[in-house]
Amino acid sequence: MDYKIEIFLNGESCSFAVSEDETLLDTIRVKAGLEGCKRGCDSGECGACTVLLDGQPVNSCSYLSVQADGRSVVTIEGLTKGTELHPVQQAFYDAGAVQCGYCIPGMVLSAKALLDKNPAPSSDEIRKALSGNLCRCTGYTKIEEAVKLAAERLGGGAR
Ligand code: FES
Ligand code: FES
Repeated sequence: MDYKIEIFLNGESCSFAVSEDETLLDTIRVKAGLEGCKRGCDSGECGACTVLLDGQPVNSCSYLSVQADGRSVVTIEGLTKGTELHPVQQAFYDAGAVQCGYCIPGMVLSAKALLDKNPAPSSDEIRKALSGNLCRCTGYTKIEEAVKLAAERLGGGAR
């Protein structure tokens, strides 16, 4: 049986018919075609599928679409304004932290959620906030530097 849900997706009200066991990742990536949201482990471990649900990062592969009914969902596509990158995206780019295209969308969204509630995070706070987003290639040093650069540019500055 399908359920009709309405999600405020990247600022637009969107309706979807979803099955009771459909994940938010499938709704967003397959039905809405927003492919910035990546399918990595598909089991809640890697964070590649991170989206912001009412401002909080969630693993969309492990979240049922029916639970998102009536709520706000932001994907990486929702951060840009036309061709203008969000300051967190720009900081990742400028700091050389975009080491791959797979984990970074989730990293950027988790970093944005952190900076929204804590404009001046310490290194420990940054590492903790991004601990659900795994990098399997290079490491976390540049990613941490990027979050600090974004904090500075957004006026908070990192501790
Ligand atoms: S794909 Fe969702 S946590 Fe890995
Ligand atoms: S930067 Fe994406 S896996 Fe390392």
